[in-house]
Amino acid sequence: MSTVVTTRTALLRARAAMDGTVAVVMTMGALHEGHLSLVHRARELADHVILTDFVNPLQFGPNEDFDAYPRDLASDVAQVEGLVDLVFAPSVEEMYPLMPPPVTVSAGRLGTVLEGARRPGHYDGVVTVVTKLLQLTRPHFAVFGQKDAQQLAIIRALVFSLDIPASIEAVPIAREDSGLARSSRNVYLSDEGRERALLLSRTIAAVSAAAPSASGILSALETARRSAPEGVEWDYAFAVDPGTFEEITPEHRGEVLVVLAARVEGVRLLDAAVAVATER
Ligand code: PAF
Repeated sequence: MSTVVTTRTALLRARAAMDGTVAVVMTMGALHEGHLSLVHRARELADHVILTDFVNPLQFGPNEDFDAYPRDLASDVAQVEGLVDLVFAPSVEEMYPLMPPPVTVSAGRLGTVLEGARRPGHYDGVVTVVTKLLQLTRPHFAVFGQKDAQQLAIIRALVFSLDIPASIEAVPIAREDSGLARSSRNVYLSDEGRERALLLSRTIAAVSAAAPSASGILSALETARRSAPEGVEWDYAFAVDPGTFEEITPEHRGEVLVVLAARVEGVRLLDAAVAVATER
């Protein structure tokens, strides 16, 4: 049985008893295959794996789904049985004895563009909880998915900027057979919604087919933006420079990060991919 702890004191005690290397997988619960792929990578990397399971209120806006966010600790623990050493599942009061916390961490400029522009404060909330969880678990490795590509870039910038001695490991997006990127929020979609949501993964496929042409990538995204079927509302579909998160031009050469966000049946879905542009 994986041990479940709910207090910071118990976590620190259990962490101190771990010999060898430690990898952490941070989640907000509602585990699915995507999270399990992170856990499997963590097991390859380290002697011990800690899974954190905490729906972080600081990263939800006032009109977002914090209260409705799916929570099922018993199912989460059953899914990681035999795969992780420890599950840390604190309450909000345990993580934030003072609310709002008197000091938080800022995600900086990267936290204010794209997803951050649509969800003000979201990435500040993410980096605040990620910093706390890195302090509490002191991992050698912290494993994150590539679906929220902006979150991954910000967390890399966080450990670099604050000299946090953890190696950030990225795991490719886990997809359903249909191509839909796995997400805890997929449970909100009807069958029809799932079909509509395939616009995102089809756009990723169209962009991959257009690479390595920078203008091909841009026109695949333009076509996708114009061709959203009824019931799909694009938030953004951009090709950006992975260093600056600014939109690329047809002259761009090198890595391109494709970031997509769309709303289907009121559910906000993300997808992402990395391409390389070597020609116009
Ligand atoms: O990606 C997530 O699930 C969350 O943003 C994280 C990293 C667990 C922080 O709450």
